[in-house]
Amino acid sequence: MSTVIWHDLECGSYTEDLPLWRAFADECGDPILEVGAGTGRVALELARGGHEVMALDLDGELLAALEQRGAGLDVRTTRADARAFELDGGFALCLVPMQTIQLLGGPSGRAEFLRRARAHLRDGGILAAALADGMEPFEVGPGLPAPLPDICEIDGVVYSSTPIAVIDDGDAFVLERRRETVTADGTRSCSQNTVRLDRIAAPQLEREATAIGLRPLERRRVNATDEYVGSEVVVLRA
Ligand SMILES: C[S@@+](CC[C@H](N)C(=O)[O-])C[C@H]1O[C@@H](n2cnc3c(N)ncnc32)[C@H](O)[C@@H]1O
Repeated sequence: MSTVIWHDLECGSYTEDLPLWRAFADECGDPILEVGAGTGRVALELARGGHEVMALDLDGELLAALEQRGAGLDVRTTRADARAFELDGGFALCLVPMQTIQLLGGPSGRAEFLRRARAHLRDGGILAAALADGMEPFEVGPGLPAPLPDICEIDGVVYSSTPIAVIDDGDAFVLERRRETVTADGTRSCSQNTVRLDRIAAPQLEREATAIGLRPLERRRVNATDEYVGSEVVVLRA
């Protein structure tokens, strides 16, 4: 349950990229595969627009929430690793929003994913993957103000997630967040959450994709918002 709450809190309110994914879906048609779909921020948006969507994620709890929210829509889920999945059907479109392609463990993990994606796209199908653009290292030192937290209240418990650092770790950026809960009786708990994003630029991803038979098309952009970095979206044709 708390996995879903933190995921929704940290990712669920992002909307800047939705027009782009809707445009791809309308151009390419169905079926659509979303890789790293989480609780369905994108998958449900597309399914509500009448599309047939397969939502893939490693995390069964997130997918269970997605299924519940998608009742009555043409959305199915599959619990699988993006680097080793096997599904039926040739997809017209494979989307990888919100930097999920930077969570695959570097070049070898990406190559495995690209091969699986290529094998699941019909000829002429499109793979579109968002890469974080403009990540700047920072660290909230003692006494310095942190960025504003994301906050929600559910069943009397307040959840707060604050980005406290982006650390340049050579071949990756490490994003650190402080997660705090306060219950109705005032009990507080605090933990640290860390996400490691592979450092990869669009030309490198395009070279890796070309090596396994995907053809780069014109890149697209998602602008930065006050809360989220922008994205460069690599677009590849099978
Ligand atoms: C940043 S979230 C993006 C969620 C959703 N696509 C969105 O845009 O709101 C990344 C998602 O990728 C999933 N994920 C991470 N590594 C994965 C892997 N190897 N295979 C499948 N899913 C993975 C996580 O469980 C998480 O739901």
